[in-house]
Amino acid sequence: MVSSKNIVALTGAGISVESGIPPFRGKGGLWEKFDPMEYAHIDAFMKNPAKVWDVLIKEMKVIIDNARPNTAHKGLAKLEKLGLLKTIITQNVDGLHQMAGNTDVVEFHGNFAWQRCMECNNKCETIKIDIGKIPPRCECGGIYKPECIFFGEMIPQQYLRRSEMAASTCDIMLVIGTSANVQPAASIPLIAKQARAKVIEINLERTPLSKEISDYIIMGKAGEVLTTLINEIEHLLNL
Ligand code: APR
Repeated sequence: MVSSKNIVALTGAGISVESGIPPFRGKGGLWEKFDPMEYAHIDAFMKNPAKVWDVLIKEMKVIIDNARPNTAHKGLAKLEKLGLLKTIITQNVDGLHQMAGNTDVVEFHGNFAWQRCMECNNKCETIKIDIGKIPPRCECGGIYKPECIFFGEMIPQQYLRRSEMAASTCDIMLVIGTSANVQPAASIPLIAKQARAKVIEINLERTPLSKEISDYIIMGKAGEVLTTLINEIEHLLNL
């Protein structure tokens, strides 16, 4: 890694678990509690925004408002400061990479920090939304929808292009805390692999990438693994 010219990281919910944000899948995952097709699909939101706000979004707002970057986020920020990491492609909507100090972050699934009125397109910061009134409405009377990509929605073209460019030009891709189940994000490591990059996977468990895509698999908590990695890199760089 110390001789790398261009490291790109792809991150998923697992990197934010140590910040108190539950993952989506597996034990204690959000989708164990809520059926994603009933609460996180755009058709479900359009059909009954009040229900989706009342059950899922209110809970997410409280969790994300109180979350702070953990040692894994801070580790990636340090890798950027060392000039090794160039870009983060994240599936997370929590904004914790930017809060940790990373400057080039592709928010592949959007960001929960903003809401958009479905009538007049007015944008409002989520922190300013009063969740006492569900569904929250814009001055025009339109209903606010989080600026996150719901199931059934397309990934914006500029996010796809930037991610494909970053993945096809990196020499190392760190894949951290994703179950690699959701497309098109789960194909990004394949683009890196085809561009002859080394794929390093960091996860508590094996994923569909582990068999044929990942060159190295480091099993462990993202915070602990990245702390050890950064210490080793700083040692090798005599810092
Ligand atoms: N450190 C490292 N990995 C972890 C940790 C941890 N502390 N905790 C959990 N993990 C791993 C799990 O083993 C799992 O493989 O993180 C992964 C989380 O997987 P998911 O919950 O499926 O999250 P993600 O892959 O980001 O989901 C993709 O699906 O629901 C949609 O839009 C949503 O962006 C999300 C997308």
